[in-house]
Amino acid sequence: MKIIGTGSALPKKVVTNDMLTEFFDTSDEWIRTRTGIETRRIITDESLLELAITASNRALEASGLKAQDLDYIICSNVNNNYVYPSMSCMVQGAIGATCPCFDIRIACAGFVYAMDLADSFLKTGRATRILVLAAEEPTRFCNWAQRETSVLFGDGAAAAIVEDSDGYMGARMTTTSNTEVLFQRKRLEPTPFEVEGKYLDHPMVMNGREVFRMAVSSCSSEISSLLNDAGYKVEDIKFFILHQANLRIIKGIEQYLGGIPEQYPTTVQKYGNTSSASIPILLDELVRANKIERGDLIVMSGFGSGFTTGSLLMRY
Ligand code: ACO
Repeated sequence: MKIIGTGSALPKKVVTNDMLTEFFDTSDEWIRTRTGIETRRIITDESLLELAITASNRALEASGLKAQDLDYIICSNVNNNYVYPSMSCMVQGAIGATCPCFDIRIACAGFVYAMDLADSFLKTGRATRILVLAAEEPTRFCNWAQRETSVLFGDGAAAAIVEDSDGYMGARMTTTSNTEVLFQRKRLEPTPFEVEGKYLDHPMVMNGREVFRMAVSSCSSEISSLLNDAGYKVEDIKFFILHQANLRIIKGIEQYLGGIPEQYPTTVQKYGNTSSASIPILLDELVRANKIERGDLIVMSGFGSGFTTGSLLMRY
């Protein structure tokens, strides 16, 4: 599998740490030192769907393909204001594609899982060109009455168009069923047969310290095994494109794996945690800044609710 075009789109509203002090007791100093985050982009009058369409069109333009050339669209999305149809169906019509499409819901590791799925479709000949998209609005699942989670997130969308080639070196996926450390419950429509209290909603619940610990240990060991299996060393990798949740998590993984800080690029300072969109947003920024060259080895690695991690190794 080879990436032939990337694109991203972010909301125009820039929210600084200082702006958040209007809503709860926090400070720029606390947020910066604990997370590295300085600003984030939050959706206002645009919609997540609009961002997803813009990101997809930019990726198409970069690839030189037309929407009609796509054989599949796979979108990683946790929530938007439609339960159905899927985000990918809405994007398909808007960009003028006619291919089959579907969404996956794996939280922050979703883009890596979607890329791995895309590789299987390409390898089995089910498709020759796939749009892999991540569109996320995590600011709409935190509890804005609480400072613990609301300071961490931002919104955004990004896409990559992939086609078959021998550049995909493999992936490792891990799911450890630990549903208590990070979850959000959504209220279902009541039925006359409802057992009261069974389907109560609940905004995001996060055990930050446990998520931190699991993220560093799980991603580090997964990436190590992936490199060992493929016969590569840390110094062979141009970029480790990691889920942008927290600068300290990224530093923790860097400390475990080794290498130099330039191999671990970041956007978390300016965009916060954009869930599964964070990896393709960073990828798109590196591509557009001409920092990645054809043939460079890259690792993408994400973690999130589940607890789920996914890491892949490929040549750009
Ligand atoms: N502003 C000011 N104080 C705060 C804030 C805030 N926004 N949030 C929490 N605090 C307070 C707490 O109430 C606590 O106060 P106390 O000591 O009086 O009880 C104190 O700060 C320390 O809180 P801790 O939770 O111990 O702080 P910690 O150093 O662990 O940092 C953080 C918290 C930033 C959440 C960290 O644990 C973390 O980043 N974990 C990973 C979270 C993450 O990445 N989540 C998303 C990943 S998965 C996904 O992407 C969906």
